[in-house]
Amino acid sequence: MSPAAFQDKNVLITGGLGFIGSNLACRLVELGAQVTLLDSLIPEYGGNLFNITGIEGRVKVNISDVRDAHSMRYLVQDQHYLFNLAGQTSHMDSMHDPYTDLEINCRAQISILEACRNHNRDIKIVFASTRQIYGKPDFLPVSEDHLLRPADVNGVNKMAGEWYHILYNNVFGITACALRLTNTYGPRMRVKDARQTFLGLWIRLLVEGRPFEVWEGDQLRDFTFVEDAVEAMLLAAACEQANGRSLNLGGDSVVSLKELADLLVEVNGGGEYVAGSYPPDRKRIDIGDYYADFSRIRSALGWDPRVGLREGLARTLSYYRQHLEQYL
Ligand SMILES: NC(=O)c1ccc[n+]([C@@H]2O[C@H](COP(=O)([O-])OP(=O)(O)OC[C@H]3O[C@@H](n4cnc5c(N)ncnc54)[C@H](O)[C@@H]3O)[C@@H](O)[C@H]2O)c1
Repeated sequence: MSPAAFQDKNVLITGGLGFIGSNLACRLVELGAQVTLLDSLIPEYGGNLFNITGIEGRVKVNISDVRDAHSMRYLVQDQHYLFNLAGQTSHMDSMHDPYTDLEINCRAQISILEACRNHNRDIKIVFASTRQIYGKPDFLPVSEDHLLRPADVNGVNKMAGEWYHILYNNVFGITACALRLTNTYGPRMRVKDARQTFLGLWIRLLVEGRPFEVWEGDQLRDFTFVEDAVEAMLLAAACEQANGRSLNLGGDSVVSLKELADLLVEVNGGGEYVAGSYPPDRKRIDIGDYYADFSRIRSALGWDPRVGLREGLARTLSYYRQHLEQYL
């Protein structure tokens, strides 16, 4: 990707005050883009104004909701790129309140796409999809050819959201693609609870000097450092080879949760964890082992994760040692 791809380009990021959206915003500002961040800042979700400290004077912030079709109609106009990241991200919340998840992760996606169809047909859209849509894997590593069989309401709605993007690309010519993210971590992630990921809560407790709980430590997972996820999104936006496709992201290594916990404690220079087990309501939607085959994005866009797990964890811990109080 040439950095010039984003110079002076108008870029809208939905969910732009959240974890990945704000990291993406920082990178796009560096690349010379004119960035607008749309975020609802609903307190239970991951948006945080502190996330844009340092770039706050160089981006436009629009506090609105992707469920509001009127806001979307106005905001998509004149944008060259849309990074569509706004979402309800908690799997458990989607089980307790399926309608809100449906409204945000599914219905609002049609509003966004309709706004583009009616008011900006030349926009390029990158949608943040998720590995959750595969459900419990039949084989590992999971490639894009794996059956989609989500294990929770969030997965069903994200799957629909993803496919609306691909459908609008194929049928209406609104250029769009989707990246299926796996566990993403790094500075600005949500750490006050496990709503975004268990790893956020582990990091908070470790920084506070408290023990964290590891449930069924032999489960396998892969992790993407947020800088690598941002790079993939920029490549997907800039490269025509991504158009109309859904591509997996992955990590540089596959670890069990126990190995992850040990590494985290080691990188932190100390700390403790205790063994626990899944509460029954979590167990019912758990997908077991997962790691991605990301060879397709590697060959299509030349993407590879660059930041190893050890370095990524060290950088994340260092960020929260400095800024934890802004995230509680
Ligand atoms: N972090 C991960 O590990 C991961 C994994 C797979 C997929 N994803 C996807 O990536 C995207 C970004 O995730 P994140 O980790 O940065 O989470 P996040 O919660 O930090 O960011 C999502 C943002 O969307 C905003 N938002 C939620 N509902 C909204 C609405 N109705 N209108 C406007 N804004 C709204 C939130 O305020 C938040 O700032 C999500 O769509 C998520 O499904 C993330």
